[in-house]
Amino acid sequence: MSDSSVLTMTIDSTKTSVTVVGLGAMGAALASAFLEAGHPTTVWNRTPARAEPLMAAGALRAGSVAAAVEDGGVTMLCVRDHAAVRELLDPLADRLAGKAVVNLTSSTPEDARSTAEWAARHGVRYLDGAIMVPVPLIGGPDAQVLYSGSAEVFEEHRGTLLALGGEAEFLGAEPGLASLYDLGMLDVFFAGMASFLHAAAVMTADGVTARTFLPYANRVMAILPATLEGLARDVDQGRYPGDEDTLDMNDAALEHIVVTSRARGVDPGLPALVRALTRGAIADGRGGEGFSAVVEQLRSPGAATPGRSSA
Ligand SMILES: NC(=O)c1ccc[n+]([C@@H]2O[C@H](COP(=O)([O-])OP(=O)(O)OC[C@H]3O[C@@H](n4cnc5c(N)ncnc54)[C@H](OP(=O)(O)O)[C@@H]3O)[C@@H](O)[C@H]2O)c1
Repeated sequence: MSDSSVLTMTIDSTKTSVTVVGLGAMGAALASAFLEAGHPTTVWNRTPARAEPLMAAGALRAGSVAAAVEDGGVTMLCVRDHAAVRELLDPLADRLAGKAVVNLTSSTPEDARSTAEWAARHGVRYLDGAIMVPVPLIGGPDAQVLYSGSAEVFEEHRGTLLALGGEAEFLGAEPGLASLYDLGMLDVFFAGMASFLHAAAVMTADGVTARTFLPYANRVMAILPATLEGLARDVDQGRYPGDEDTLDMNDAALEHIVVTSRARGVDPGLPALVRALTRGAIADGRGGEGFSAVVEQLRSPGAATPGRSSA
């Protein structure tokens, strides 16, 4: 992990100079990691005071975002959202022509494509990125940053990007890919956390602490990788064999979860949604197929989930 507040880093002037625009929790961690790896680092933040710890560690603070991007061999953006990115970039189109910009601000694939189109119109060399780890992991071996867009910018600056830790991973030339993978991974993450919290609400209603229940939740998590492998195979093949379990059987288990939640005054909406998807598939004649058939309900939202309102 980087800690810009403790040491002044040794800057190596032969290394690529980096500009970091946006010094919130994540932007500051990125700048620290570049400094720690010896890159000459220029920083800019809308609220200038946030640059001070980085200046103490050897960063140069630019007086304006325009001056900041003049300095960098590569400009990294890490601000709150897509709107802030465009607010910053739009007036800089002329200055950035021919330069490499790496945008590590989280966004949607559509936002990433729109910024890539803007960049292409102005001759800006654009790489999009998605940071998949929290601040403390930046600069360490477990950092994960995904990239998509200009393969040329990625290859040219791969060594610099590695200063952020882990392995820089390029997903392809389509600029929305990094955001797409980011959101896919977060989709799984949020659903997993929400279902644990739902189960914890049910358990604690009966006096079982969340901590007591935790190892049992983890046992289920341990079988998920193999389960997901089967789901991925079925989704890609477009066939949902119910060899090991069927939607008819899953429906009964989901009904028990909904009823048990409701009996304890716990919101049954989350399992009820899964039950509604299952029932939609059963109504479509898929009761003998496996749980993977639910993907077909998700692909046609509304029409196929008659039970959704029954929570
Ligand atoms: N923090 C994490 O663990 C984490 C993990 C993965 C990805 N990310 C992504 O990294 C990005 C930054 O996150 P963060 O945690 O650093 O957020 P943050 O601490 O809230 O900082 C937001 C940054 O955006 C700047 N900003 C906001 N609106 C702006 C505008 N209109 N013009 C110029 N600058 C503006 C802020 O400037 P001021 O200081 O002037 O307000 C600040 O530098 C987000 O896209 C986030 O999703 C964060």
